[in-house]
Amino acid sequence: MERARIAVLVSGQGSNLRALLDACSDPDFPARVAIVCANRDAPALEHARRAGVAHVVFRRQAYTSREARDLAMAEALAAAEVDLIVCAGYDAVLSPALVDRFAGRVINLHPSLLPAFAGSMDAPARALAAGVSETGCSVHVVTNEVDAGPVLAQQRVAVLPDDTAETLHQRIHEAEHRLLPEVVRGLAERLSPLPVGEG
Ligand code: GRF
Repeated sequence: MERARIAVLVSGQGSNLRALLDACSDPDFPARVAIVCANRDAPALEHARRAGVAHVVFRRQAYTSREARDLAMAEALAAAEVDLIVCAGYDAVLSPALVDRFAGRVINLHPSLLPAFAGSMDAPARALAAGVSETGCSVHVVTNEVDAGPVLAQQRVAVLPDDTAETLHQRIHEAEHRLLPEVVRGLAERLSPLPVGEG
């Protein structure tokens, strides 16, 4: 089986990267992580290191502009021949040059039931402040409008009476760790040829 090659873009702790790497450690999983890109020295990179996956840091300060940084990252993604780019806790907005080059092949994980609480990663705190009884997480296609591309899948998470932003985000994370690998599996299966059996 030819496994889909995925890139994972990270900025933070990388618990979702770890969930993807765990899923990919199953030889029957239809995708593998070909490259991890970060915009800073994120703790997430340690997961890539441990898994022996190529990882590159594209620091904003090393480039004249955000676009120049994203063009360099786009070159690395193209060189790694990735089929799918997964933003998992990546906290910078991608430039149109990168989004357009990989149009329809970039997805993002967001800690709310989009379109609710779009536009910032503190969505769990915003959900709590808004007094909603449930929130969750979404995987959506990345377009040039932040958090507004078509939603591919969502998982609901109840808001409990004694929740803090941290306990709520922790439960959302647990849902994300199930949702993201399942979405990647589904997309990768669509990319791979169907099994032909023994004839
Ligand atoms: C996740 O909650 C994701 O939805 C948001 O950032 C967080 C990343 O967590 N975009 P981690 O770095 O994968 O642990």
